[in-house]
Amino acid sequence: MTDAPTPAPGTSAKSMDDIVALCRRRGFIWQSSEIYGGINGFWDYGPLGAQLKKNIRDAWWQDVVTCPPDGPDGHPLQIVPVDCTIIMNPKVWEASGHVGGFNDLRVDCRETNNRYRADQISVMVSWDTEAGSGDESSDAIQRLFAFTANDQESYEAARKKAEKYAKHIGVKVAKNPATWPLTHAEFEGAFDYVVGPDTERPGTLTEPRQFNLMFKTHCGAVEDEESLAYLRPETAQGIFTQFWNVVDTSRVKVPFGIAQMGKAFRNEVTPRNFTFRSREFEQMEIEFFIVHPEALQPGDLTPTDWYQYWCDQRFAWWQSIGLAGSNLQLREHEKDELSHYAKEGAGTSDIEYRFPFTAPGFGELEGVAHRTDFDLRQHAEHCGQGDRAKYFDQDRKARYFPHVIEPSAGADRGTLAVLCEAYTPDPSRPSGVYMNFTPRMAPIKAGIFPLVAKDGMPEIAEKLYRDLRERWAVQFDVKQSIGKRYARMDEAGTPYCFTIDGETVSGGASGGTVTVRHRDTQQQDRIAIDKVAQFLAEKIG
Ligand code: GAP
Repeated sequence: MTDAPTPAPGTSAKSMDDIVALCRRRGFIWQSSEIYGGINGFWDYGPLGAQLKKNIRDAWWQDVVTCPPDGPDGHPLQIVPVDCTIIMNPKVWEASGHVGGFNDLRVDCRETNNRYRADQISVMVSWDTEAGSGDESSDAIQRLFAFTANDQESYEAARKKAEKYAKHIGVKVAKNPATWPLTHAEFEGAFDYVVGPDTERPGTLTEPRQFNLMFKTHCGAVEDEESLAYLRPETAQGIFTQFWNVVDTSRVKVPFGIAQMGKAFRNEVTPRNFTFRSREFEQMEIEFFIVHPEALQPGDLTPTDWYQYWCDQRFAWWQSIGLAGSNLQLREHEKDELSHYAKEGAGTSDIEYRFPFTAPGFGELEGVAHRTDFDLRQHAEHCGQGDRAKYFDQDRKARYFPHVIEPSAGADRGTLAVLCEAYTPDPSRPSGVYMNFTPRMAPIKAGIFPLVAKDGMPEIAEKLYRDLRERWAVQFDVKQSIGKRYARMDEAGTPYCFTIDGETVSGGASGGTVTVRHRDTQQQDRIAIDKVAQFLAEKIG
């Protein structure tokens, strides 16, 4: 048996249960339709969460669409946006390969009727039959399997279950379990020994079966094959199908990007880890179209150059919104992880964050993939255009389907990572915790408080609030003691609070000073009330 995973640096004091509790208590994230018991895999954002997620989307839009980075040649990239529908012609998903290939292996439990992702089964314990299992028919090492989602809690539960069963059937437990992936033969042969997550006895799980992750629906009054449609499982295909319209109507030429953000839906077999694996989520995707390798001229950037460029750019972007420490990593995919559209050797990397529930491992925030010309070629073929749909490159006098580098990010996973990173326990403060969001991400940029609700203070505070809210998301609060109001702002992650007190009143509405309290240090100093806007502009932008 391996030791329990050790907490990772930077996550040691963070408990996912505490983060989820704060999200609920302060209105960052709630279960969808909670009053009816919720619905598995669907989440709502409350007032603070909705603003936080919007800040992430706005930052992405600003840094990708409005003001894209400079390309490797030092000139700003061209990236244009589209906003496509969630339901598209079902032929899109045949062409893209999602009807045939967008599957997860899943197993069902015959006892509980629960369904699980097969790749979340890990080998927990093994025993040697010669060392006393009593099974003389086999001369091989036998393995006992138990279910784990690769987080510590699930791991511990599975270990206990497997040990109990091993004891029951009188076998010895070895200390060094194998890990996923199993070979196919091992996997298929293992099911008699698998202890499901919700059962006490092994052997209740079925062999793995393919399960398509797309949600189906019907358009129109009749529910038949003709009216079948899908909710998009990625926003990317809207971009590919409108590629030709974008080229015809905008002044773009390769290399250029098309960006889209919006909802995507996947009927995930086992939604889990809070919003990390949801059934409805939001993507922020760029399809960046580059010269086909066969049309490259000396000095041109190759797909590998662009792929590396985008890996670096996107990694730096996540750092810029507050995930700057060792909890962020860039990881190149193993061969067996490549998607159906990614060519072997063409390059796919994930930008990953070490969430408290994945520690010491990491979970994907964004994938950067070289999708080759797969999608454009597929759509050209399926819509009957074939080679006629090739892009004409005026500079190279060549016709080709451009290759694509795709940085594809999740807004919900990004929000979750920013929440986890910001969560900072601090027993010395009344709130016991504060959220140290970067000012750009903070849902509320400043709290405006009269020290007491009398003596002219509320009026001055309200005027300041009215001035500031035209530019920033600020909050005015007169209730409770000032300490409690600071504590609420600490939990909301508000970087600055301005308090109007007796000194402000005695100095007059424009001549007085206010206290500015800094969230991270809790330090307080005084600035002139008419300098507050300038202060915020310098700190927040
Ligand atoms: N167009 C490529 C594509 O969709 P993906 O790796 O399947 O690639 C991209 O998804 C991003 O979308 C992921 O990095 C993740 O942030 C987000 N994502 C995917 N499935 C998700 C889910 N079930 N719940 C939340 N976010 C998800």
